[in-house]
Order: sequence, then structure tokens, then C-alpha cells
Amino acid sequence: MSEVSSPIRAVKGMNDVLPGEIARWHRVEKAFHETSQRYGYREVRTPIVEPTNLFVRSIGEATDIVSKEMYTFEDKGEAVSTGSPRGKMLTLRPEGTASAVRAYVEHQIHGQEGVTKWSYLGPMFRRERPARGRYRQFWQAGLECFGDPGPQVDAEMIDMVTGLLTSLGVQDIEVLVNSLGSRETRAKYRVALHDFLLPFEARLSEESKQRLKSNPLRVLDSKSPTDQEICTTAPSILDFLSPEDSAHFEELTSTLAALGTRHRVEPKLVRGLDYYSRTLFEIQGKGGELGAQNALCGGGRYDGLVQELGGPDVPSIGFAMGIERILLALPNEPVAPSVDVVVIPTEASLKIRAATILQAVRRAGCSAEGDLRGQAMKKQLARAEKLGAKFAIIVGPNEEARGVAQLKDMRTRTQEDVAFADLANALKRRLEGGPQ
Ligand code: HAM
Repeated sequence: MSEVSSPIRAVKGMNDVLPGEIARWHRVEKAFHETSQRYGYREVRTPIVEPTNLFVRSIGEATDIVSKEMYTFEDKGEAVSTGSPRGKMLTLRPEGTASAVRAYVEHQIHGQEGVTKWSYLGPMFRRERPARGRYRQFWQAGLECFGDPGPQVDAEMIDMVTGLLTSLGVQDIEVLVNSLGSRETRAKYRVALHDFLLPFEARLSEESKQRLKSNPLRVLDSKSPTDQEICTTAPSILDFLSPEDSAHFEELTSTLAALGTRHRVEPKLVRGLDYYSRTLFEIQGKGGELGAQNALCGGGRYDGLVQELGGPDVPSIGFAMGIERILLALPNEPVAPSVDVVVIPTEASLKIRAATILQAVRRAGCSAEGDLRGQAMKKQLARAEKLGAKFAIIVGPNEEARGVAQLKDMRTRTQEDVAFADLANALKRRLEGGPQ
């Protein structure tokens, strides 16, 4: 006898979203699509797999994402077709901006329009240590705006996503903004910060010791209390901004104030991607089941990236929000299932009739369920209740002989005979609450 094989489980940090949870996902996705459309963004869909180099060049080799979190593999087929000993290296996208920029450059969108506004929604992959709110496959909804140097569009974006989160019911959010200035500013600040931190090296956490070498700005991001204490007197990036960068940042904060978007300037805000310049922002949540992973949304300006990936000099800004984290921040109210009608054949011989009725009402636009396994009537009615059906259509041999079915209102328990040919229309009229 063969052994019973053990069940296969999903990959650690990658989750199933079961139908019972999907209504909450749809709500967030719908709100995101509607809001981005209202602000003039159009959806783009890019591949989930990209050449590894795209992320190395955009996100940055020294970042955590690129140095240790990417799912990278060799595309062996490519080795055969190119005749090279190694296949092309491919990576499951860890974020959406690099792909959007690649597509923008590849399709020469810059030659077609001055300002391009794109939205996207889909799964991203990072091999992080799984925790509540931190997964290895997670969903992001994001926007990218190419061609506008800001800062008004920066403020508009921050205001938009703040409004979106609030309208979804996310409570207790905090909007943090900062400016990283130009690349030159950042380079100067990096040196100053490194020099400041070096005397404290021995006291820094292991992670920050590493970061001091590879990317000192990320030390400011550390969650270790000692690191945080050391950083309290660290130089502020805002003191390193050029006059143009400062003017840009001041106009950003005054536009936010004019729009009524509450925010806090946080000079220690840095983010784990290298492509940012000038405006940087993050929205943190405090409520619901959010734990330490409280960044609901992060974004910023990446003015040099389009050029770095082979396009012209196009200033750009974007953000992405994590859908799982937004769901954790929202109250978990179960959404009851609901169906317009359940079709119930009382005898197995009427299953074909039931199938034709189901087809007619579904084609008329109603949601309909039918149990065509030949279950007892009582069981079928119980299922109709469970599905939250508003109506039931019951066909028995007596009705069949007369060419009618019973249309039963599940709330009032009233029922009446309706000819087969009229069923779909009669049901629709009742569902719309119009004249019978
Ligand atoms: P990010 O800060 O790496 O930025 O990610 C944005 C958001 O995705 C985070 O605020 C968080 O809500 C969610 N997120 C990130 N990692 C995870 C994870 N492991 N598990 C669950 N959720 C996660 C970016 O990805 C940039 N591409 C944003 C951007 C767009 N900047 C400019 N344009």
C-alpha cells in the first residue's frame, strides 16, 4: 500500500486569500482604482519577472532589498538560445517603480506626452523575515507620475493617499515628510553622517554597523533604542539642502498646509531604496492589528531614475501602499455573502429545467446559485438562507407541468407563480424594487 503523502503547504511568508476575506480586499482595491482615476492616473500592468539588473540599477546594490531579499533565478532557456554558459538572471519584482520606469522608457512614453500618470496594483516579492504585516509575497497599490518636477504634484499625491486611507476608515494615521535634496546633497550628507556616527560605531547595533559602511542613512531608520539615542544629535539633512531644494521643500509643506493635509516634517525619514531625491514621505498607522510594521504607504521623488535607466531627464514621483497592512489597520468586519436568487429543483428529474432558469437569470444580470446535485428541498432552502439569498425560484413537477415556477421572496416569505419565460424579468423588477 502506498503511504499517505503529507499535504503541501504554501511557501513561508506567502499567503492564500480565501473567499471569506476577499470582500475586504475588493473594497480597498476598488477605492484605490476609483481614487486614482479621479486624479487622472491610468492603470499599467507590467510583468512580475524582470531582468535582475533592473532592480540592481534602480533600487541600489547596497540596499537590503537588492543585497539579500530578492528572489533571483537563472533563466536556463535563455542560456540555450543565447549560447552563453549562464542563462539570463531574472528576479521576481520586489516593488513596482523600477518596472514602471522600465516600461516608460521602453515604450518611449516621454515622447508622447508631457506628464504621464500611471497606477498599478499587484503582488511584490521580498525575502524578508515574515512577521505580522511583513510578508514575502505582498500586494502593493501604487502611483507613478512622470514629467512634473513638483512640488504641487507631490503635495497632491500625499493629500490624495491620505484622503484615500481616511475614506477607507483607517484611523490614527501620521504623515511624515522629508526632503533628501539632490544627489549631490545626499552625497555630502552621507559623508557628514558617516563622520558623525563613526565615533559611536562600537555602540551601534550589528545591523547599523553594517549600514554605517554600506548605507549610513539607513542607520537613522534603525529600530534599536541605542541607535535611536545616538541619532538624536545627528546632523539633519535639511541643513544640507541647496537653496533650490529648500525652496522646493518649503513649497511642498505650504501646499500641504493649504490643502489641509496634516503632516510632520521628519528629517530622519529615510527609506530603503536608493533612487529617491528631494520629497520623501511615509504614512504610518497606529490602529487595528498593525504591530511594528506600521508603514502603510511610502513614496517619494526619483528625479534621476528615468535617465539612469536609459531615458531622458524626466522628474518623477510616486508611492506604493501595502494592501495587507491597510487591511490590518482596518476593523475586521466580516462581510456576509449575498446572492440575488437560489434556484431549487424539488426533484432530480428537474435539474435540466433548473439549469436553464439559472442561465436565464444570470444572463439577465442577477447573481444566482443552484444546487444541481439532487439534494433534498429542505437542504436547498437552508443553503439559500446561508447564502443570504433575497429570492428563491422553486420548480416542482406540478409547476413544470404548468410551465411556471414559484418565485419566493425570502424576507416576506410570500410566493407566486411566474411563467418560465417571464422569470428573469420578474426577478429583476423585484430586485430593483420597481412595480411588480
Ligand atoms: P516601500 O516603502 O518599499 O516602497 O513599500 C511601500 C509599501 O509596501 C510599504 O509602506 C508597505 O506598506 C508595503 N510593504 C513593503 N514591504 C512589505 C512586506 N514585506 N510585507 C507587506 N507589505 C510590505 C516601494 O516599494 C516604492 N516602490 C514606493 C514608491 C513608488 N516610491 C516611488 N514610487
